[in-house]
Amino acid sequence: MNLPQEIRYKAYADWTADEITKIKENVAKSPWHVTYHIEPKTGLLNDPNGFSYFNGKFSLFYQNWPFGAAHGLKQWVHTESEDLVHFTETGVVLLPDHPHDSHGAYSGSAYEIDDKLFLFYTGNVRDENWVRDPLQIGAWMDKEGHIEKFEEVLIQQPDDVTEHFRDPQIFDYQGQFYAIVGAQSLEKSGFIKLYKATNNNIKQWEFIGNLEFGGKGSEYMIECPNLVFVDNHPVLLYSPQGLDKSELNYDNIYPNTYKICQSFDTQNAILKGASEIQNLDYGFEAYATQGFNAPDGRALIVSWIGGPDVDYPTDQYDYQGAMSLVKELSIRDGKLYQYPVEAIKELRSTEETFVEKTTTDNCYELDLTFPANEIGELLLFADTKGNGLRLIVDTINGKVTLDRSQAGVQYATDFGTTRQCDITTNKTQVRIFVDKSIIEIFINKGEKVFTSRVFPEAGQTGIKLLAGQPTGTYFELKY
Ligand code: FRU
Repeated sequence: MNLPQEIRYKAYADWTADEITKIKENVAKSPWHVTYHIEPKTGLLNDPNGFSYFNGKFSLFYQNWPFGAAHGLKQWVHTESEDLVHFTETGVVLLPDHPHDSHGAYSGSAYEIDDKLFLFYTGNVRDENWVRDPLQIGAWMDKEGHIEKFEEVLIQQPDDVTEHFRDPQIFDYQGQFYAIVGAQSLEKSGFIKLYKATNNNIKQWEFIGNLEFGGKGSEYMIECPNLVFVDNHPVLLYSPQGLDKSELNYDNIYPNTYKICQSFDTQNAILKGASEIQNLDYGFEAYATQGFNAPDGRALIVSWIGGPDVDYPTDQYDYQGAMSLVKELSIRDGKLYQYPVEAIKELRSTEETFVEKTTTDNCYELDLTFPANEIGELLLFADTKGNGLRLIVDTINGKVTLDRSQAGVQYATDFGTTRQCDITTNKTQVRIFVDKSIIEIFINKGEKVFTSRVFPEAGQTGIKLLAGQPTGTYFELKY
């Protein structure tokens, strides 16, 4: 939603209790609230931030402007989880309340060090002429949730980047802390800077080099770069804005991509043996994906189900955006797989053989197998008039298509109403999670993923089989 700058950057203290109550009442009116996904209490949710393991639990923050469905003065909101499925807001927030983050506590990462959580993030600072000074800054969060910001700036804007320099990710590689930061060059192409913590002191960062990962630089900015390790392979996840479609075909306004690499030369800042660039997700919305390696070694990721510069049907209710399920990464036959963690099965409450049905409230999982040599077609969020979200699993031509053109309230149609990916012509396993206004589809155990929003009208709760003979199970999910 387009709101004037003076509203979006109004100081938090200047919002009256009355105004806040009205926003909360408006949010409560929405028919589209999700149940087992994270969404903002109020306002806009964008990137996952500070995904980490701290004090015996998983921590995950979200970027948020709490006063409406727009990108304003951002804060981080803290949630925690023991099982990566049930997340609770703790009430802790990283506020934009310091001269070094005066215009927003922008995205970043976190890492547990000596019983405290180190938050490494971008302070968005603007001067009176609205000229931006992006600062990479830090804070400690203790076990009680007290936040203590560092007075020093950890990384200043280098000479060879524009004002677009943000989203530091800290990671430990072979016992040494490194950080990567997304950047735009003076020639307006995207790149990534690599730093090392001198003597592992996270207050002292030395520049190693601009990360070589076989990028062509056709994008104008790289947001939210993340490096995770999957079976010793470095996997680079990133959001290259404006990427040329000759480099990679994608349909969303901004793509979210990855490369699988063979090794990491830390001295020369090289990710060796980088694969071709790939789409991380084929759905209508998945962006700014953040990952980290948990203490047990698993590479876990979570995505923003939303995108910059898109208006959503929930905007009228003063909120927007949600977080994806947590997905675990693995590599098989050189391919990246993303799959919900095992604990997601805890949400299953009833189990039935899959047949057409009217669901109670669009809160379910389908685990289906589509046979080879046929075109299978499902209509989800279906009503009696034939409207709904069409999912076509075509094992004759090797394609999966998601068609949102007849599904619920229409929005963002300028970016097309269908999404597609290639699959093999073998029998195909499709696991689908539906949560009121979210759908996440995992094909062949997460070899391809479609993440999307759908905003059904009243009564659009059906599941219909339009073609083919998929078999499997329907589970009702309860949070
Ligand atoms: C990505 C992003 C980040 C930035 C944050 C601000 O969606 O633009 O690059 O840190 O959002 O909210």
